Amino acid sequence: MIKNITQNVYLVGIKDWNVRDFHGYETQNGSTYNSYIIKDKKNALIDSVKYLFKDEFLKNILDTLGATTLDYIVCNHAEPDHSSALSYVIEKYPNAILLCNQKCKDTLSLYFDTTNWKFQIVKDGESLNIGDNTLYFYDTPMVHWPESMVTYLPKQKLLFSMDILGQHYASSYTFDYEESLDTLLYEARKYYANIVMPYSRQVLNTLEKLKKLEIEIVANSHGLILKKYINEMLSLYSDFANGKNKEKAVIIYDSMWQSTDKMARSLIDGLMTNKDLEIKVCNLKTTHNTIVATEAIDAKYIFVGSPTLNSNILPTVASALTYLEGLKPLNKIAFAFGSYGWAPINVKKITEYFERMNFSILKEPVSCKFKPTKEVLSSLYEIGKNL
Ligand code: FEO
Repeated sequence: MIKNITQNVYLVGIKDWNVRDFHGYETQNGSTYNSYIIKDKKNALIDSVKYLFKDEFLKNILDTLGATTLDYIVCNHAEPDHSSALSYVIEKYPNAILLCNQKCKDTLSLYFDTTNWKFQIVKDGESLNIGDNTLYFYDTPMVHWPESMVTYLPKQKLLFSMDILGQHYASSYTFDYEESLDTLLYEARKYYANIVMPYSRQVLNTLEKLKKLEIEIVANSHGLILKKYINEMLSLYSDFANGKNKEKAVIIYDSMWQSTDKMARSLIDGLMTNKDLEIKVCNLKTTHNTIVATEAIDAKYIFVGSPTLNSNILPTVASALTYLEGLKPLNKIAFAFGSYGWAPINVKKITEYFERMNFSILKEPVSCKFKPTKEVLSSLYEIGKNL
């Protein structure tokens, strides 16, 4: 679907209503691959889409350009959700000049046979006039890949922000003001937690760069375009990148024969006596790692429970912890618990994850043989209560 978002900027991207897995991220509400055309003396396409949608995408481009042609293609990011339809666009418009930085060119050359592509390398801060508008290019390394950059139109105070400030969220809406702020911020939190969280330092560098720009529209590559809630979204990024946590506890666990489950329940009962504490329970039998990361990102306390299984922890718990470890959550206080049959290897293994993630340890772990006694349950209740 084509949508005119400013006088001469058109949204020509794709709503992917059905995608449910984005390299491990469970996208329950689908996603969008936003791409834009600036119609000017020279026409420019900003980014492309996932190759699966090339036909609809090419039709959108053709319908938008009409009798005119495509002069420039900006590639802000080489990840295939934005680049894998590029070769089809270039096949259709072989004279279009592809604007990107050197790292992006190098990456694209590994994905495609770019022998006949017409590249023009743009450096950080460089600009290009296309008529009434001038495009400015700013590198934003590691947000989300080394070659990532954004493109800015000062005349329209419009930022093509690529992955930054996006959401994996397909809806019938186009702009943020059409959606509730709660939904927008939840989807943005989920996106940041599962995509951007490992790059806190680089996010802070990017925020510093963006501060110098006057921005009234964020035309991102995923989700709703921002007009009304730009400050709220920037503030969310700043809080996450600075490791600012809420008074919130997340209990992440799985159980074999209900012993670790009983332990979790006592702990939760104790936690619930803390009036101002937000509590989220992630039972891994029913909770995807995507949600674990989404709840963990702004939580001060992380509680992890697993029984010992075959001298290790349950695979569900190992999976959640491995996923979290890769995402590098900041400033957490953690506690391990769980039952065992022969040896309390479970809490040792969980603690090793905590140590690798530089979590502070709240208390010595609590483990019990086979079934928790009243005393064990009571001690967990007290740990929760006296947080
Ligand atoms: Fe939306 Fe990093 O790609």
